Amino acid sequence: MNRGSWRWSMMVGLLIAGIWGCGGDEPQPAGDLADIPYVPQAYLLPELPYFFPDLSVPADNPLTVDGVELGRYLFYDPILSVDSTLSCAGCHRQELGFTDGLALSEGVGQTIGIRNAKPLANVGFFEKGLFWDGRVQTLEELALHPIEDPLEMKNTLENLIADLQVHPEYPAMFRKAFGIADREEISAPLIAKALGQFTRTLVSFNAKYDYANWDRGPETQFFSPSELRGQKLFNREPIDPDEPHPGCSHCHVGPLVSTNEYANNGLDEALEPVDFPDPGLGGITGKPSDFGKFRVPSLRNVALTAPYMHDGRFATLEEVLDHYSSGGHYADNLDANIFPFSLTAQEREDLLSFLHTLTDTVFVQEPAYGNPFSE
Ligand code: HEC
Ligand code: HEC
Repeated sequence: MNRGSWRWSMMVGLLIAGIWGCGGDEPQPAGDLADIPYVPQAYLLPELPYFFPDLSVPADNPLTVDGVELGRYLFYDPILSVDSTLSCAGCHRQELGFTDGLALSEGVGQTIGIRNAKPLANVGFFEKGLFWDGRVQTLEELALHPIEDPLEMKNTLENLIADLQVHPEYPAMFRKAFGIADREEISAPLIAKALGQFTRTLVSFNAKYDYANWDRGPETQFFSPSELRGQKLFNREPIDPDEPHPGCSHCHVGPLVSTNEYANNGLDEALEPVDFPDPGLGGITGKPSDFGKFRVPSLRNVALTAPYMHDGRFATLEEVLDHYSSGGHYADNLDANIFPFSLTAQEREDLLSFLHTLTDTVFVQEPAYGNPFSE
């Protein structure tokens, strides 16, 4: 197996100035940035394994080398927050699978938020709503929320735009990314586009889980006997249908390790929808049957993304297994695949060792996703 060929291979852009660029003969637009060349080059994602779904990119925000680069700078720059103390990366740390290690996130001035920071691996593939409750649809739309959220960066877009317009570096970067002719054209939609582009490039496909599955040679070549047994517990239905079995793959499955659907996995007892401490999807759709449902999270890098669940209530994977094996709490819409089961000490260990095969160390060390200010 040539691991190298799976690695990040190309960052070389294609010259497509002919399509998007300003033609040489056209008059130059007036503006203080007009002299800086605008030569957009397509950003090429690493070659994704065949078993991945297609990454859909909005027609009005194609990935370009300069767009992604600008998004990366913005993501790591505390200038986005009201007092320049907190960047996106402050709550989405690469080494923690782009989470923050806290149960509930901490905003500017130690304000405690209401939810657990989500991992960002493969976030561009989730097309049925983002955030735990699916309240926004695209990465572009999402990007402006944390900036203005009073529990997060507490800034205003007007303030941020004004800071970026007078910045020594950013106006030229916006020019290169989006072809604006004047710093006055720096706008919220362009900030959103750049952050959308960068977050869309965060692709993870180099976990042991990826190598052991999908025709890349016999599973035993990659998985230890314990990991292999753990995967069987995670995946397979029991031979005897009456035998209670974890069956995690009903919801956590495939390359995204998620069905991308919404489910109630039994965290809270609720006789009525109002009993859920956090309404989740129901808070968005208003449908009683959606209360207490959350988007099934990917389990990629799950060993790095503790604590767990939308409110970070479980500190460890052991506690997560205790929750599932208890069968969860009663609610009308408790998913049928959540029911009590028991595991021997060995089976528990096997399941935990399988969960560790979802760690993608290439992803969490990939320099292209890291902090550009420390390069
Ligand atoms: C104060 C901490 C904090 C900061 C700062 C922050 N985030 Fe988040 N992020 C969160 C939390 C908490 C969630 C989950 C919120 C929810 O679901 O209601 C989240 C969710 C997300 C998601 C959704 C992932 C998914 O799978 O649905 C994306 C994308 C994201 N953040 C990107 C960003 C970007 C881009 C920035 C900077 C503009 C940023 N975040 C700044 C805490 C933070
Ligand atoms: C009915 C679908 C379903 C089944 C079956 C299921 N899960 Fe989940 N899982 C979810 C949902 C939904 C969440 C998010 C719940 C929340 O935070 O409110 C979740 C969250 C998690 C998390 C926390 C992830 C994070 O980023 O915080 C872990 C870990 C997890 N599940 C592991 C498992 C394991 C192990 C099994 C099998 C024992 C399993 N799940 C079975 C739906 C399911």
